[in-house]
Parts: sequence; C-alpha cells; structure tokens
Amino acid sequence: MKSILSISHFQLFLYCSLSYLIQSHAATSIIRPLSLCVKDHGATGTGAVYDTVPIQSTINACSSAFLRHRRPCYVTFPPGKYLTATLFLKSGVTLDISENATILGGTKLSDYPEKQDRWYVVVAVDAEDVGITGGGEINGQGMKFVTRLDERKNVMVSWNHTGACFDDECRPRLVGFIGCKNARIWNVSLNEPAYWCLHIVRCQNTLIRDISIYGDFNTPNNDGIDIEDSNNTFITRCKIDTGDDAICPKTYTSPLVNLTATNCWIKTKSSAIKLGSASLYKFKGLVFDNITIVESHRGLALQIRDGGNVSDVIFSNIKISTRYYDPSWWGRAEPIYVTTCPRDDKSKAGSISNLQFINITAISENGVFLSGSKGGNLSDLKFINVDLVYKRWTNYSGGMVDYRPGCKGLVNHSTAGFMMEHIDGLDVQNLSMKWAGENTAKWNNPLDFRPSTVIHVSLQNFYSGLYKQ
Ligand SMILES: *[C@@H]1O[C@H](CO)[C@@H](O)[C@H](O)[C@H]1NC(C)=O
Ligand SMILES: *[C@@H]1O[C@H](CO)[C@@H](O)[C@H](O)[C@H]1NC(C)=O
Ligand SMILES: *[C@@H]1O[C@H](CO)[C@@H](O)[C@H](O)[C@H]1NC(C)=O
Ligand SMILES: *[C@@H]1O[C@H](CO)[C@@H](O)[C@H](O)[C@H]1NC(C)=O
Ligand SMILES: *[C@@H]1O[C@H](CO)[C@@H](O)[C@H](O)[C@H]1NC(C)=O
Ligand SMILES: *[C@@H]1O[C@H](CO)[C@@H](O)[C@H](O)[C@H]1NC(C)=O
Ligand SMILES: *[C@@H]1O[C@H](CO)[C@@H](O)[C@H](O)[C@H]1NC(C)=O
Ligand SMILES: *[C@@H]1O[C@H](CO)[C@@H](O)[C@H](O)[C@H]1NC(C)=O
Ligand SMILES: *[C@@H]1O[C@H](CO)[C@@H](O)[C@H](O)[C@H]1NC(C)=O
Ligand SMILES: *[C@@H]1O[C@H](CO)[C@@H](O)[C@H](O)[C@H]1NC(C)=O
Ligand SMILES: *[C@@H]1O[C@H](CO)[C@@H](O)[C@H](O)[C@H]1NC(C)=O
Ligand SMILES: *[C@@H]1O[C@H](CO)[C@@H](O)[C@H](O)[C@H]1NC(C)=O
Repeated sequence: MKSILSISHFQLFLYCSLSYLIQSHAATSIIRPLSLCVKDHGATGTGAVYDTVPIQSTINACSSAFLRHRRPCYVTFPPGKYLTATLFLKSGVTLDISENATILGGTKLSDYPEKQDRWYVVVAVDAEDVGITGGGEINGQGMKFVTRLDERKNVMVSWNHTGACFDDECRPRLVGFIGCKNARIWNVSLNEPAYWCLHIVRCQNTLIRDISIYGDFNTPNNDGIDIEDSNNTFITRCKIDTGDDAICPKTYTSPLVNLTATNCWIKTKSSAIKLGSASLYKFKGLVFDNITIVESHRGLALQIRDGGNVSDVIFSNIKISTRYYDPSWWGRAEPIYVTTCPRDDKSKAGSISNLQFINITAISENGVFLSGSKGGNLSDLKFINVDLVYKRWTNYSGGMVDYRPGCKGLVNHSTAGFMMEHIDGLDVQNLSMKWAGENTAKWNNPLDFRPSTVIHVSLQNFYSGLYKQ
C-alpha cells in the first residue's frame, strides 16, 4: 500500500505534472486519481497514539495537488487503526480507507473543535468533489460515551458544560458534509457514532451507496443518515442497524428537494424513514423504493412540527415489521405515521400533499396513524396495493397515540387499523388489513375517523378481516 507519490511535494508535483501531461495526450484515457498514503506522512496506524497531524497533513497535501492538477486525490489508509481528533476533508480529496483499516474517533472533548457545530470525527465544509470509500471503517467509539447501560435506553455522557448544547444531546457526530457539492460516500462502514452518524447539510448532488451503518440499539440519537436542507441526494444499497432514526431528512434553514433512497435494509429502535421533526422549510420530491424495515419502532414517518410543507413523496415496494419498545423512544409500532402537529404555541402547522404508498406490506403491533391538523391538513393521499397484518406479540402496553415531540404528547386512545384526522382526499385501491393472534379484541375498529375533519375518502377493493395462516 506504499504510495508512489509520497517522497516529497516537489517530486509529487513533478510526477503529477508528467502524468498529467501524458494523460492529457492520451485521448481515450480515464483520469486516474492521485494518491497519497497517510503512513508516508508519519501515521502509525497503531490506535495507541493520535495520528491526527500526519493524516491532516496528507489531506492538505492531497487537496493542494488536486487544486494544482485538477485531478481527484485519494488519501489512503493501509490496514491499521488510526486514532484521531477531528479531521477536515478538503476539496478534491477522497479518504480511501482500505479493508481492515479503521479511523477511530477520539473520545475527549479536546479532540473536537471549539465550536459545537463542528464536532465530527470527519467533516468537510464548503468543499467540492469530496468523498469517503475504500471498504474500511470509521468508528466513533460510541460505547465509550455510555455512562450507564440500560436496555430501555442507555444513559449518555453529555458535554453540555460547554454551554453550546443541552442535556444529553451534546456529543460529537461521526461524519459531516456541510455546504458541499458532489460529495460521494461509498463502500465504507460507519460504526458506533456517539451521536448522529452521517450528516449531510446544505449540500448539492450527494451520492451515498454501498454503505453500512451500525450503532448500538439502545443508544439514543445515534441516527443513521440525517439529510438537512440539501438537494439532489441519492442513497442506494445501504444497511442501517441502529438505535435512532435511520434515514432522516430535516429542514432548518432552507428547503430540501429531490431525495431518493432505494434498496436499503433498516433496523432501528426509532423510525426507519422519518421526515422531520425539524421541519421549518418545505420538503419536495422524495422517493423511497425497495426498502426492508425490520422490527423497528416505527416504519415510514412524517413528523412535521414547524410549518414546513411537504409534497410529492412516494414510498414504494416496502416491507415493514414494527413492534413496541420502551415508550421513552418516540414511536408506537406504527407501520405508517403521518402527522403535522405544531410543536408548540409558537409553531405553525405545515401541510402534506400528494403522498403515495404503493406496494407496501407490513406486519405491525399498531395501526396506521394519519393525523393532519387545523391549517395543516393532509391532502391527496394514495394507498395502492397495501397489505397490512396487525398482530400483538410483545408485552408493552398499547392504547395510546403518539403526537411527540411536543404537541399533545402521548394520548390515550383505542387502537384502530387506520386512525385519521384532518384529511382532505384519501384514495385507497387494493388495501387489505387482517388481524392475527389472540389480542384482536383490542383492535375492534378498522377505520377511525370523523366526517367533520376527514373528507373526500374513496375506498376501492378495501378488505378487513381476520388473518388465517
Ligand atoms: C482483512 O482481514 C481479514 C481477516 O483477518 C483477512 O482475511 C483479509 O485478507 C484482510 N484484508 C486485507 C485487505 O488486508
Ligand atoms: C469495496 O471495497 C473493497 C476493498 O477495496 C472491494 O474489494 C469491493 O469490491 C468494494 N465493493 C464495492 C461494492 O464497491
Ligand atoms: C446539562 O445536562 C444536565 C442533564 O440533563 C442538566 O441537568 C444540566 O442542567 C445541563 N447543563 C447545561 C449547562 O445545559
Ligand atoms: C435547494 O433548492 C431550493 C429551491 O428549491 C433552494 O432554495 C435551496 O437554496 C437549494 N439548496 C441548496 C443547498 O442548494
Ligand atoms: C429536482 O429534480 C427535478 C427533476 O429532475 C429538477 O427539474 C429540479 O431542478 C431539481 N431541483 C433542484 C432544487 O435541484
Ligand atoms: C431490493 O433491495 C435489495 C437489497 O436490500 C436487493 O437485494 C434487491 O436486488 C433489490 N431489488 C430490486 C428489484 O432492485
Ligand atoms: C406552507 O404553505 C402555506 C399555505 O400555502 C403557506 O402559507 C406557508 O408559508 C408555507 N410554509 C412554508 C414554510 O413555506
Ligand atoms: C407495484 O407492484 C406491481 C406488481 O409487482 C408492479 O408491477 C408495479 O410496477 C409496482 N409499482 C411500483 C410503483 O413500483
Ligand atoms: C387541505 O389542503 C389543501 C392543500 O393545501 C387545500 O387545497 C384544501 O382546501 C384543504 N382542505 C381543507 C378542508 O382545509
Ligand atoms: C410476555 O410476558 C409473558 C409472561 O410474563 C412471558 O412469558 C413472555 O415471554 C413475554 N413476551 C415477550 C415478547 O416479552
Ligand atoms: C391513560 O390511561 C392510563 C392507563 O389506563 C391511566 O392510568 C391514565 O390516567 C390515562 N391518562 C389520561 C390522561 O386519561
Ligand atoms: C388491484 O388488484 C387487482 C387484483 O389483484 C388488480 O387487477 C388491479 O390492477 C389492482 N389495482 C391497482 C391500482 O394496482
């Protein structure tokens, strides 16, 4: 894994210039990336000492080479463990973390920058053509942030004494791309984040493929992928097994447009797909296709709380199984959960329109919850070819609808197949709900709605009955 380009910057320049000239004369050649090896810059790869300075200087050299020669530059990590404080990724640079190589995030506050919004193990800010790949791993050592293991919900370290953030949500994220163009994250494992795992903020044209994310099932806030205020994001072939929300688009400062996620496998103690709850601006043009969701606390969720409007969202070809977990986690085993409840007195209601669910099968411990609000209704909803089986099998108590965060909180309410409020336009074609097991007495209501708030409902080929093997 020794880099040919490691001897000195001058030689690097010569090599790059020559090969650039050679390549520019070969009409058919594909531009090969440059490559610099962190070991040649003094990284030990032992995991015993910090390799921050050598890795960062390799990144800096790589970015300079990119800027001079306009060829992408790879920073390679041969097998080994690279303990590090925050690394700043630069334009043109891709971290090439080889198989059996791990970048290990530091666990001390002093390993992270002063400003809390830059607490990441790896972060790229305002960079273009940046990426992470190689088949290796970035690991945030999340378990070292657990102060008390609890199978209901682990208790976490908090760095809130800095005053920058509150309570237990004061921990570093794993990987961040902020204000980036053309970021690519592929063929890499992102494991054990202390807080959110992969964070895409105000980016354009982001590709995320063949990645695997693992976080402890009982750790709060270790979200899989949080996509914020970003346009044209494409996610495919991901495996996410974590405690908190797996794929989570949010809007804080501007709209989020065009997000596609396909061919993913998800298990989470929270929502598998969740829009919100931060939802100050619009969400538009989202597609989720061919996704398998296993034993999660919630399947497909829109948790709109801050006045942002949602439109043109398709969920297709999705298999879901949900179950109850401890109520300290948001979610009540709903396979589908759509809400626009204002967070508090100061929040506005956002509306949701043109939302489609096509080819969905689910087995779940709770029904579908579709809850608009006054001034934030749900309109033009479609359910086509949807097959739902309801079955209770854990001992957690049901009988509540969940408006959290904020809003009305947890409210006692009998369980229904579809519980609906504030909807204008619901079109159902080929929907089957079946009840399995012995607890069907608690589910004696397939559809729960009032004509005072739910109008323009069409049911075609709607089936409700008991489940027979
Ligand atoms: C990675 O480690 C595995 C198990 O030790 C080994 O079989 C494999 O050859 C290693 N791969 C590389 C690229 O070192
Ligand atoms: C991921 O990287 C490994 C190691 O470089 C390689 O063998 C494998 O083919 C890559 N897989 C994908 C899907 O790119
Ligand atoms: C830090 O969080 C703890 C636990 O939630 C809380 O008691 C304390 O007031 C917080 N301190 C600050 C400065 O936010
Ligand atoms: C995304 O597109 C919207 C327009 O729909 C625009 O207002 C916003 O600035 C864009 N965001 C980025 C990060 O380019
Ligand atoms: C979203 O995608 C559509 C269709 O591909 C495209 O016309 C539009 O410009 C995209 N929006 C943004 C903000 O990039
Ligand atoms: C759906 O995604 C799975 C991975 O979760 C993949 O194996 C399968 O080929 C995909 N199916 C289609 C039709 O793309
Ligand atoms: C949401 O739509 C309503 C009604 O069209 C509009 O008044 C409001 O400004 C929109 N909200 C945002 C954040 O764009
Ligand atoms: C739904 O499933 C049917 C039958 O498998 C298939 O023909 C159709 O293309 C699917 N629809 C979507 C939107 O994927
Ligand atoms: C629901 O919202 C849609 C889109 O904003 C609007 O056209 C419709 O009039 C609303 N219906 C009710 C009953 O408020
Ligand atoms: C529910 O409680 C019963 C009786 O205590 C126990 O036998 C069973 O294993 C429990 N089921 C689950 C899924 O925890
Ligand atoms: C909700 O139900 C529980 C259990 O049946 C009961 O203890 C509680 O008082 C109820 N809460 C309200 C607000 O009715
Ligand atoms: C509903 O199911 C029937 C029979 O299974 C099928 O012929 C029809 O195309 C389906 N409708 C839609 C909208 O997919």
